[in-house]
Amino acid sequence: MITGIIGCGNIGTELALFMDKRKDFELKYLFDIDKDNSDNLTKKLKNSNPKFASFDSLIKNSELTIESADKEAVKKILKNKDLDKKNKKLLVMSTSGLFENISSLKKTKNCDIYLPSGAIAGLDAIKSVSGKISSLTLTTTKNPKGIANAPFILKNNINLKKIKNKKIIFQGKLKEAVVGFPKNINVAATLFLASKFNNIKIKIIADPKTKTNIHEIVCKGNFGNLTLIAENLPSKNPKTSYLAILSAIQVLKNINNKVKIGS
Ligand SMILES: NC(=O)c1ccc[n+]([C@@H]2O[C@H](COP(=O)([O-])OP(=O)(O)OC[C@H]3O[C@@H](n4cnc5c(N)ncnc54)[C@H](O)[C@@H]3O)[C@@H](O)[C@H]2O)c1
Repeated sequence: MITGIIGCGNIGTELALFMDKRKDFELKYLFDIDKDNSDNLTKKLKNSNPKFASFDSLIKNSELTIESADKEAVKKILKNKDLDKKNKKLLVMSTSGLFENISSLKKTKNCDIYLPSGAIAGLDAIKSVSGKISSLTLTTTKNPKGIANAPFILKNNINLKKIKNKKIIFQGKLKEAVVGFPKNINVAATLFLASKFNNIKIKIIADPKTKTNIHEIVCKGNFGNLTLIAENLPSKNPKTSYLAILSAIQVLKNINNKVKIGS
């Protein structure tokens, strides 16, 4: 499958290294706003020799476009006239970009769009109970390093270095969380897109003593209760959980697997 990656940082690089070992993916194109990141990725590959392409030509010429950049890239991808064709596939990591551009997403009818479960577990169950949910909360606990420089932290002048014990930093709705923590809250956007539940409550906790990114989902309704906890080690980028990368690799494997496990 002819593939292009938009965003050649931490996740883009790991996905490229996975595809480099596979015969079913031909990594042909890369794009990044910082060409050095794309060059560094290319140097790590043994079997593929992707070329740096423009944003538009990458989408036009790839059967599978992988977005591992940011939510602005997602907005541009959804608006690209060459995306919405039969036999085109798009894997999106910055799912908050889908949440913020939901009308463009709904207009996309032909392209297959894949959203990995990312840093959370249990999306299969959440999808199954969609329509039967009465309450849904997501509590994310991270080391303060994982939320450093988030717009909410900067806007409210929160000095993360002063936090010595577990502290609730944010409580609110998904819309505010996506704006305040755009790089941390993709899990919440994915949760919304899977559950279709409009009133998800988000809590973000900073804990200087934790080395893991913890996402706890509590979902209640007329099906019973679900409590889903993922306690993730960070990847090379402390804002990104290693599980998010593994889940995207699993999506790539699933594209070509004949046996599909899980709902
Ligand atoms: N779905 C999930 O559960 C989940 C989990 C972790 C991370 N993410 C998201 O995945 C994305 C990538 O994460 P990462 O850890 O690889 O980040 P990263 O910072 O290591 O890499 C991002 C790369 O994309 C490039 N980039 C940024 N904006 C761009 C744009 N508009 N167009 C093209 N290139 C652009 C950067 O230069 C960088 O090379 C982020 O948006 C992150 O929030 C999602």
